[in-house]
Amino acid sequence: MAVASFGAEESLIGIGEHKILNTHLIDLRTTPPDVFKDLSDTDWSKVGWNDVGRPYKVENYSSVRTDWEHSHGEEMPVRDQWQYFNRYFHDMFVTDVPAKRKEVQQKFWSALGKVDTSEIAEAFQEFIQVQIWNRIHRTKDAVWDPRGKRALFEGLDVKNPKILFLGAADGYEAMQLMAMYPGGHAVLVDYDDFCEEERFGNFPEAYPFLGHNPATGGHKVYYREDFDITFEVKDLRDIDYAPDFDIVLSVGLIEHFPDEHKPHAIEYHRRFLKPGGYAIVTTPRKQLQSQLYYRIMGEVMNFGYRELMTCEQMGLYMYENGFDILRSGYIKAHNGLIAQPR
Ligand SMILES: C[S@@+](CC[C@H](N)C(=O)[O-])C[C@H]1O[C@@H](n2cnc3c(N)ncnc32)[C@H](O)[C@@H]1O
Repeated sequence: MAVASFGAEESLIGIGEHKILNTHLIDLRTTPPDVFKDLSDTDWSKVGWNDVGRPYKVENYSSVRTDWEHSHGEEMPVRDQWQYFNRYFHDMFVTDVPAKRKEVQQKFWSALGKVDTSEIAEAFQEFIQVQIWNRIHRTKDAVWDPRGKRALFEGLDVKNPKILFLGAADGYEAMQLMAMYPGGHAVLVDYDDFCEEERFGNFPEAYPFLGHNPATGGHKVYYREDFDITFEVKDLRDIDYAPDFDIVLSVGLIEHFPDEHKPHAIEYHRRFLKPGGYAIVTTPRKQLQSQLYYRIMGEVMNFGYRELMTCEQMGLYMYENGFDILRSGYIKAHNGLIAQPR
């Protein structure tokens, strides 16, 4: 796959404003609704699996994976699954949606003219995918969701925090945290070097993160270059840091581990935390919209094991693996929680 990058587009807006660009939305709005549904009053000691049920497994895989497995006669290794995922996902982030929509429409009309049914079906599928991406990411901003994440991340008792991001991909949430709690350092860990080079490496420099201004107590806008970040291309299972992080974060990671491996995945959120530190975890929500999303976008999103879960299910995994849940709830597409080791 050829690697494309974000286009340069005017992205200057003032605090309180938002603007839809060709690839994504930028959003510096400071007033409600913050699209965080707070479920923090859940008494986790009284919640059991019989009450909350089990996560939904997404089982329609990309033909890229099934063809690979057919020709190799073995299951695609998990790391390779992530390499495909990151390249296809990045390709969507950098898509100039209005231009792509035009291109796909022309392809559709041309296929109709030739009465070529397989080309018509392909163009139609591409058209639906562009429409969905336009809605989910470019106009609704449900993937980056800065307003929801700001609401989820607010109120942490940290100063110049040291942040560890497990499976960091583009590093987005670490940057949002660093804007809200400035002056710290983040270590992003991902075993796909494409994330270091492209997803994080070419994250739009002009993307504005709304955060806190320690000098005035008000808002301040930060950009990628303002943050002190180290990217480590490493397998999580090989990292060996001191337990001195204020925040350990994962976004869309633990739902990729089947139940027998979840305790191990969750343990990584505890091992590197300093006493009093916070684990922040988000996972995609189990909701009809998300089930449809992964069904329709499966060809470019589904390369490996994936669950969709409710906030209660995610909280229960963390609670039964030794965390107290300080805040829990959901934002547009993800559940989110702030937790501390018990
Ligand atoms: C689903 S992505 C997280 C979603 C993310 N917000 C995004 O935009 O893609 C999970 C990331 O974790 C990384 N990852 C998965 N298992 C890993 C492991 N064992 N070690 C290091 N990185 C891992 C993948 O390469 C991928 O970039």
